Amino acid sequence: MNQLVDKPLSINDISAMKRRGEKISCLTAYDASFAAVLDKVGIDMLLVGDSLGMVVQGHSSTLPVTIEQMVYHTQCVSRARKRAYLIADLPFMTYSRPDIAAKNAAQLLQVGGAQMVKLEGAKVDCVRFLVEQGIPVCGHLGLLPQSIHQLGAYSVQGKQPEAAQKLRDDAQQLQRAGASLLVLECVPAALAKEISNGLTIPVIGIGAGVDCDGQVLVLYDMLDIGVGKRPRFSKNFMIGSKSVEDAIAAYHSAVKGTEFPASEHSF
Ligand code: KIV
Repeated sequence: MNQLVDKPLSINDISAMKRRGEKISCLTAYDASFAAVLDKVGIDMLLVGDSLGMVVQGHSSTLPVTIEQMVYHTQCVSRARKRAYLIADLPFMTYSRPDIAAKNAAQLLQVGGAQMVKLEGAKVDCVRFLVEQGIPVCGHLGLLPQSIHQLGAYSVQGKQPEAAQKLRDDAQQLQRAGASLLVLECVPAALAKEISNGLTIPVIGIGAGVDCDGQVLVLYDMLDIGVGKRPRFSKNFMIGSKSVEDAIAAYHSAVKGTEFPASEHSF
């Protein structure tokens, strides 16, 4: 159990973790009770993901989630958080133009209490505009759940050389546009390692191998709660744990100690 829960983390603390080679732990959170447990255990970053559309609301994709719902869940998490850095997702179609993105991102920061917003894809103009307004941004490349109807399936991205090159280029472009973090979802571990090493900003992997600068999972997947099938890259941390708090502590320590993800959780 991490007892050093007195000082709230800033983006500088998160960036310093990459520089000194300390892995960054992140989990999704959607409510105050879980957020309090994650924070108490010492998880470094909480992500109010639009995955809540699937695991909380029961939809078959993240597309129906609205900005109002994201603000509401971000407020719930924000009230309980003491130390962890707080990121909130911009949901589908809330960043179709830079000015629209700024209006919605402002809601997540001003009303929700988030410290950073995350958006999917190489939306370089939006990222640059948000950063110019003083809004920190986390990019998200690889498998983009909001594009599921274009992709056709939740599958590994960047397997072909051209797709891998596009991911490398997009990652560099997002960093140049001012993104402070990057989530890489469902990409081959070797490619994710290369992208992480090639960027100065921290790269948080999900299904992207152990060499990213940090790891994120959907909380309900790693607690093995829910109706849907758990993705291969997730792990049931309830196995061998006496409580939810123990399972979260086991995840935190496995990320810090580079025991998670193992090769069976990677591509
Ligand atoms: O919405 C979410 O939970 C996410 C993670 C899967 C990274 O974006």
